[in-house]
Amino acid sequence: MSLKNKFLEISQVGIEFPTPEGPFCALKGVDFSIDEGEFVSIIGHSGCGKSTVLNIVAGLYQATQGGVILDGKEVNEPGPDRAVVFQSHALMPWLSVYENVALGVEQVFKGRKSRSEMRAWVEHNLCLVKMDHAMNKKPHEISGGMKQRVGIARCLAMQPKVMLMDEPFGALDALTRANLQDSVMEIQKELNTTVILITHDVDEAVLMSDKIVMMSNGPAAKVGEILKIELDRPRERVALSKSDQFNHYRQQVLSFLYEKKGVVKLEDEKRKRSSSAAASLNADLADASSTSLEDQIA
Ligand SMILES: Nc1ncnc2c1ncn2[C@@H]1O[C@H](COP(=O)(O)OP(=O)(O)OP(=O)(O)O)[C@@H](O)[C@H]1O
Ligand SMILES: [Mg+2]
Repeated sequence: MSLKNKFLEISQVGIEFPTPEGPFCALKGVDFSIDEGEFVSIIGHSGCGKSTVLNIVAGLYQATQGGVILDGKEVNEPGPDRAVVFQSHALMPWLSVYENVALGVEQVFKGRKSRSEMRAWVEHNLCLVKMDHAMNKKPHEISGGMKQRVGIARCLAMQPKVMLMDEPFGALDALTRANLQDSVMEIQKELNTTVILITHDVDEAVLMSDKIVMMSNGPAAKVGEILKIELDRPRERVALSKSDQFNHYRQQVLSFLYEKKGVVKLEDEKRKRSSSAAASLNADLADASSTSLEDQIA
């Protein structure tokens, strides 16, 4: 066993939210680690706690149990070493594409890079996401996919230790989504960025990840299974869709999600059966009463 610490350790993380009905335990004992340069997806049903995990790693939420250690340092607050890409781009509407990226760069590199170095760095990151041609446009003048590219450039330009992406492609059409997935994979490979990606999309998780963390349903959600994806890179979606190995991984994720759903379904089914028995009894009773009413009228 290696004694070397992992780059990012999420150790026995739990969180309780105060609610008017009392504390709500969203996560309990969430435990996994990530190597430097690893691309990890978190998948799970809606409301299971994926964003909560990400927000704890980002330092936006404080875990009530356990904790997060990034590169040997405990995470207690937000910091530029953890940049977040949200589902909606969150660009400043009054700033140009260039200025939106420059904002983060100035925050991180003030005093370390000259003005001309900062300018070159912003342009370089806009080139990486293929948005250098629209540097002077305002967010309302570019498409949704382009805005997401700028959001990604803004994060990359801050050179974070880990990039946290909460369903970054969720609001995009299928073609734009595919293009952006390919760009992110290319950039991640080139820069060896450590990434956590939250997604609902099984194909996206398998295509992009080195490891998929599958979460159980909440409350008190935790890691159900971790699946290592050992597919060579670069990955090409059309070729992979015909690959047995890709489909095998896909099946494993689907089976985790489906079986979880299956448990719910089974209980639902029982409930449905008992309620449909009650409903048919009610219908029988209603029939009986209406018949007798008709009989009475007749
Ligand atoms: N600030 C909060 N206060 C109270 N409850 C919260 C808070 N934030 C999240 N929750 C609850 O914690 C649970 C997990 O929420 P979270 O947003 O992490 O889910 P998710 O897996 O990201 O869902 P989705 O896939 O729909 O985005 C939910 O039941 C949610 O209602
Ligand atoms: Mg979420």
